[in-house]
Amino acid sequence: MYIVTGCAGFIGFHFSKFLIKRKTKIIGIDNLNSYYSKNYKLDRIKILNKSKYFKFYKMDLNNKNKLSSIFENNKITKVIHFAAQPGVIYSYKNPESYKKNNVNATKNLVQIIGKNKIKKFIFCSSSSVYGDHKKYPIKENFKLKPINYYAKTKVECENIIRRKLSNSKCSTSIIRPFTVYGPFGRPDMLLLKIMTNLTYQKKINVYNFGEHFRDFTYIDDVVDIVFKISKLLNNKINLFNVCASNPLKISNVINLIKRNQKKKMQLNYLKKRKGEMHITYGSNLKLIKFIKKYKFTKFDVGYKKTSTWFKKYKNKRYLRFSN
Ligand SMILES: NC(=O)c1ccc[n+]([C@@H]2O[C@H](COP(=O)([O-])OP(=O)(O)OC[C@H]3O[C@@H](n4cnc5c(N)ncnc54)[C@H](O)[C@@H]3O)[C@@H](O)[C@H]2O)c1
Repeated sequence: MYIVTGCAGFIGFHFSKFLIKRKTKIIGIDNLNSYYSKNYKLDRIKILNKSKYFKFYKMDLNNKNKLSSIFENNKITKVIHFAAQPGVIYSYKNPESYKKNNVNATKNLVQIIGKNKIKKFIFCSSSSVYGDHKKYPIKENFKLKPINYYAKTKVECENIIRRKLSNSKCSTSIIRPFTVYGPFGRPDMLLLKIMTNLTYQKKINVYNFGEHFRDFTYIDDVVDIVFKISKLLNNKINLFNVCASNPLKISNVINLIKRNQKKKMQLNYLKKRKGEMHITYGSNLKLIKFIKKYKFTKFDVGYKKTSTWFKKYKNKRYLRFSN
C-alpha cells in the first residue's frame, strides 16, 4: 500500500489517480490548506474518493501521533511525498509556512519512515534548488544556488533526507520537477492564471517583460515517470531532474495562447520579481538513461489538453488567484 502526501494538490492528485487506475491501494494525506482554493482541492478529492482503492486522511504531516498511527495500522510499503508549501513569491510573505510545511513536515515524515519498514520513499524537491546558472541544461550534479526561501527549504529537506535515510534500507529517490502544467493545475502558476484572467477579462501580469524561460513539463509525463521511479529499489539515494528539457520563452507561450483563443488579452508587462529564476532548463539525460526511451508531451499538445479541461471545468471561480 502507498501513502501519497499532498493528494489534494495538483501533482499528488494526478499521481493518486494514476495508482487508483492500476488498482493500487493508497492512503492519501492532505491538510487542505488555503494557499489556494480549498474547494478546488475538494473537487480533486471528490474524484479520488469515488474509488474503493483510495482512503483520504485530512490531516497535517506535523501531527506526529496521527501520522505514526497510520503507519502502524496499515501495511505501507511506499511513500510518495508531494505535500509542501509551494510558490516563490509567497515565500517572502509567509516564510513560516515554508518552514512548517516543507522542513518540519518532511522531518516528521522521514523520522517515521526510518522507524518503519518502508521499501520506497520519493521526495518531491524542485528545480528551484539550482538557482540561475551560466551553463545549461542543468545536470543533477550542478551546484545548488537557491535564490528564494521556497528553494532554500527544499534544499534543507533534501539534506534532512540524506542525513536520516542514507544508511537505511529504504530505497530513496529525490526528484526535482521543472514547471509542471496540465489539467487541474495550480491556480498560482502561469497557464491557469492566464486562462482564468481571460475568462474574467482581467489584466494578465507578464513579469520580466516575458523574457523568462521555463522548462514546461506535462503532468502525465511527470506522473508516469514518478511511477517508474517508485519501482526503483536499491540502497542508494537516487536523484533525478524531471523535465522535458525544452525551455520555452514566456513571450512565445503567450503568443501561442493568443493564437488559440478569441478573447482580447490585456497584457501588463512588468519588471522581474525578486526571487524568480531567469531560466529553468534541466538535463533529463540521467532520467532517460534510467527509464530508457521516453517521449515527452509536446507543449502545444499539453496546452490543448489543459485548455480543453479548463473549458469544461465548472467551478472556474475557484481558480482566481492574485499575487
Ligand atoms: N507544480 C510544479 O510545477 C512543481 C515544480 C517543482 C516542484 N514541485 C513540488 O511538487 C510538489 C507538489 O506540488 P503541487 O504543484 O502539486 O502543489 P500543491 O500546492 O497543489 O499541492 C501540495 C499539497 O500539499 C498540501 N499540504 C501542504 N502542507 C501540508 C502539510 N503540512 N500536511 C499535509 N498536507 C499539506 C496542500 O494542501 C496541497 O494540497 C510540491 O512539493 C512542490 O514543491 C511542483
